[in-house]
Amino acid sequence: MIKLGKALLLTSLLATSTVVAADKEYTKVDRIKDMITMAGGMDEIQKGLLYRCEDGKCIKKGADSIKAVLVNLEKVDPNDFLDKDQQYAHKFSKKRQIMLWMYINEMLDELRDKNMDAVAQNYGLALRECTSCHMKLRPTKK
Ligand code: HEC
Repeated sequence: MIKLGKALLLTSLLATSTVVAADKEYTKVDRIKDMITMAGGMDEIQKGLLYRCEDGKCIKKGADSIKAVLVNLEKVDPNDFLDKDQQYAHKFSKKRQIMLWMYINEMLDELRDKNMDAVAQNYGLALRECTSCHMKLRPTKK
């Protein structure tokens, strides 16, 4: 699924590269790229939970890549990346971002305490934030 996302991203990058270069507006292409980064981060965290990466390395790596996207999104008005028919979800989107930030940080705190049960719980809560947004904003993609 991620491979497909990359292929789609590449096609759209090729199609819109001049537009993207001309202005620094946060586009749909940027959004997909950030989403794929976050999905990769969630994969890393899951890997850390299932295979127990050394010293929680995978979990930290995954959390870092998700946080980098969230920091980036902080500078973006959700109106810039929500489609016209999604603008009603402005507040909802901001809240999902804040909650994600909170769960990822809590997960890292628990990792420091080696409380793996709580790490897994926060991972699950973070995943729910992703899917909650997707269910609301991607109704056509079931
Ligand atoms: C603020 C709402 C919101 C949150 C929170 C959110 N997403 Fe998304 N995500 C979207 C939207 C909207 C799309 C559809 C993008 C499009 O098609 O333009 C999407 C698309 C995706 C895609 C598909 C990309 C593609 O190639 O089509 C993946 C993967 C993804 N998100 C992963 C995640 C993960 C992982 C998280 C949580 C860490 C997350 N998302 C959190 C709104 C959100």
